[in-house]
Amino acid sequence: MRIGVYPGSFDPATYGHLDIIIRSAKLVDHLIVGVLNNVQKSPLFTTEERVKILQELTYDLDNVEVQSFKGLLVDFVKMQNASVIIRGFRAISDYEYEIQLAQTNYSLDSNIETMFLVTKNEYSFLSSSIVKEVARYGGNTSKMVPPLVVRYLNEKNIELNLEENIKINTLGGE
Ligand code: PNS
Repeated sequence: MRIGVYPGSFDPATYGHLDIIIRSAKLVDHLIVGVLNNVQKSPLFTTEERVKILQELTYDLDNVEVQSFKGLLVDFVKMQNASVIIRGFRAISDYEYEIQLAQTNYSLDSNIETMFLVTKNEYSFLSSSIVKEVARYGGNTSKMVPPLVVRYLNEKNIELNLEENIKINTLGGE
């Protein structure tokens, strides 16, 4: 049985990520979407939220499961008895970073291969950071992320605005 891991921050998952999940799930028997639990990155969505979003997006894909992981990716891959890491490749700007990741992972464990799937043309500009930036300023993200992510982004915006208002009121309200 070939098990693959598709790792990432997924903060939040986009149509580009979903496309890679659907396509790579056809290439392996079992696909584990690995959500990086990294406190240093201070993500917009908590690890639990990112996992939940991906679980909701992939509920109809029988051979896909979503898990969070901490530490080295190769350790997580080994723990899952997986043999292949899957990454999406959007444009030449991804090259340096992706090669560095793949080569580091290969040097850490040469039994684990990295496989790249080229992103669909229409998603080649798309990234979670771009989505967050557009959402933050009230732009329309419906072509970038599935409807449920649009909803999560709106909720997060409301939450952040409330926190901001509370801060302003506490600091300047006496
Ligand atoms: O979606 P991203 O942020 O590009 O994903 C990056 C990810 C999660 C694949 C990468 O940061 C990762 O694997 N982190 C875990 C630590 C690790 O093993 N790093 C690679 C060796 S330096």
